[in-house]
Formats: sequence, C-alpha cells, structure tokens
Amino acid sequence: MKLFIDTANVNEIRIAKDWGIIDGVTTNPTLLAKEVKHTCRERQEILREICELVHGPVSAEGISLDAIGIEKEGEDLSRIHKNIVIKVPVTPEGIKAMRMLRSKGIKVNATLVFSCNQALLAAKAGANYISPFIGRLDDVGQDGMGLIAEILDMLDNYEFESELIVASVRHPLHIVEAMQLGAPICTVPFKVLEAMFNHPLTDKGIEKFVNDWDKAREVMHK
Ligand code: G3P
Repeated sequence: MKLFIDTANVNEIRIAKDWGIIDGVTTNPTLLAKEVKHTCRERQEILREICELVHGPVSAEGISLDAIGIEKEGEDLSRIHKNIVIKVPVTPEGIKAMRMLRSKGIKVNATLVFSCNQALLAAKAGANYISPFIGRLDDVGQDGMGLIAEILDMLDNYEFESELIVASVRHPLHIVEAMQLGAPICTVPFKVLEAMFNHPLTDKGIEKFVNDWDKAREVMHK
C-alpha cells in the first residue's frame, strides 16, 4: 500500500519524509488556506516546497467551479512542478474539466467522492486517482469503508486504470480496514501517521530491554 500524507504543513511533511514511508502528498483548499494564514506564504510557494521535499504525486485543488475555470486554475497549478496532480470534484463541470486536463497530459485526482456512481463517472473521465472521503461518510452515519469495497470492485470489474485513494482517514483502524480490502493508496493526516506507531507493549518492551541491559552492565562494572 502507498501512504500519502494529507496535509499542507511543510514541517509535518518533512518529519514524515524522514521516516522514509511517504509516497505522495494530498492537500485541499482548507489545508492550504490554513498554511497560507499561518505562514503568510503564497499557495504556489508552499506547493513548490512540498514538491521539492517529496518525490511523488502532490495533489492540489483550485476553487473554480466551472470547467473553463477549473482547467485554467489546474494548468496554473500544474506549472508549479511536474508532480502536481489536480484535484477536481465530480460535478458536471468538474467531469468536463477532468477530460480537458487529461487531454493536456495533466494528472487528475477526482475528489469529494461519496458514491460509487461518482467514482464511475470519474473513472470514465480518465481520472488518475479517485478519492472517496470515508471519514465524512462515517460522520453522517454512512459506511465509508463499504464504499471503498464497492469502488474497488467497480474498478476491477471494468479494468479501469484509475487508482483509489482512501481519503478523509480519521484513525489507524481505517488504514487496517483499507489494507484488508487491498486499497492501493491511503492518504493519512500527520496525527494518524504518528498514531500508527503506537502500541503500549512496544513502549513496555523497550523499557524492559533498556533496564535489563543497564542491570547487566552494573554487575559487569562492579
Ligand atoms: O484527503 C481528504 C481530506 O483532506 C479530507 O479530510 O478530515 O477534512 O474529512 P477531512
């Protein structure tokens, strides 16, 4: 499974990159707005730095809603770096924009996907990635992971080349369930990546190894 980090925070990306387990980055207008506000840096500048840090796909999304606007903003964003992927929502205008961007060789990540029908439309429009937001579905009492299973089947049944990105991940169990379904990519917030390391028996085990070793050295040096 590929692990992407779902953030626009350069410090978080740098730490996760140093762990050596990050294959790509996803951002969205909310995540970028937060960093623009906190750092007083332009969106382009932040995205360029992210692309220089992580050598994999970096998703970025504009705020235009009509096909021409999405295409124009997508082209501008894609000029920042060759690894930029344009996130586009699956609306009638978004689907048109996906085709337009794909015909120019610009990669597309279909975003805000909440149904298998939306995923089918995105796959038919040639989206490179499809991002169902599972946490937001869980929030409204629907089965986020069930949607992942449906979309994986659909992509497999019709041999589409779009890759599914499990998005809106809220806790480590989401990643375990996504692995069990064979999802190719999960995009994970920094806090959840950190939580993936945690197990009390690991901490307890390390403490015991260090104590036992220290005791042996005390005996040896008496
Ligand atoms: O990748 C999608 C993600 O950015 C949305 O996550 O937690 O805002 O639902 P969340």
